[in-house]
Amino acid sequence: MGPLFRWAGSKRKILPHIKRHLPPIYKRYFEPFCGSACLYFDIRPQQATLSDMNPELIHAYLMVRDNPLQVHDFLSGLTVSPEEYLRIRGLDERTLADNERAGRFIYLNKLCFNGVYRTNLQGKFNVPMGVRTGSIPTLDELLDYSKVLQGVEFLAGDFQAIVDRAEEGDFIYLDPPYSKPESRKRGEYGPNSFDFSDIQRLVDSLKSAEQRGISFTLSYCESDALLESISPDWFVESLSVRRHVAGFHQHRRVVGELLISNRTAEVRGI
Ligand SMILES: C[S@@+](CC[C@H](N)C(=O)[O-])C[C@H]1O[C@@H](n2cnc3c(N)ncnc32)[C@H](O)[C@@H]1O
Repeated sequence: MGPLFRWAGSKRKILPHIKRHLPPIYKRYFEPFCGSACLYFDIRPQQATLSDMNPELIHAYLMVRDNPLQVHDFLSGLTVSPEEYLRIRGLDERTLADNERAGRFIYLNKLCFNGVYRTNLQGKFNVPMGVRTGSIPTLDELLDYSKVLQGVEFLAGDFQAIVDRAEEGDFIYLDPPYSKPESRKRGEYGPNSFDFSDIQRLVDSLKSAEQRGISFTLSYCESDALLESISPDWFVESLSVRRHVAGFHQHRRVVGELLISNRTAEVRGI
């Protein structure tokens, strides 16, 4: 089963590489920058906590898990057209019922440009409709996702609180937004999204997790600042990946990406 949502920055293409960094056995799976959680949907661990600082995304997951029929009720009344897209985008999520709020998120996610989540300074979603878009999930699809997500814990918030919840024997996969010192904030992933200034906080929380007996794998763009701050014992794999750069550019570019993990013994055979 693929992910429920489209998401800019999804790691779908490099899943085979990421999977080679996973420990053979672990207790619980944590994904604190989950987005569309493509790794989770690929490996479907038994016990999982998925979290993200985007409250609309987490609310939509929760509603699909717990109330797929109500979400479908709302979605089934919508048409797919540029006029309807603008009407749904213009709705204020704070005034909507729970199923309408989730349905609005799903509708916009499926039809927006490249699965990008971008907001203006007021936190209002402002991505235009795409040309090659996804389709609105059917009732059967929503019911299937609901079944799969039973037992998954969803939390909205900053990554650090989630990393701190993990305990000995757990595994954490982290995929923060890529950010370089010169990056301009364009509102991708919403206000207060992770940026370059959070790298040290991220590395510190992973060092502390490692001391508690936790395994992790971190995806990030090539970054000297990151490589200088990590523990010398961590295993680093460099990849070249063809991507849409910054979500909105039409052209693709080969970018350098890193996979960093503390399971050195298992992955040295790569
Ligand atoms: C590159 S995307 C993750 C993509 C994901 N691996 C997938 O398969 O779709 C990064 C995610 O981090 C989230 N995010 C940004 N800043 C965050 C923070 N400080 N704490 C938690 N999540 C954050 C964004 O909302 C976004 O969904």
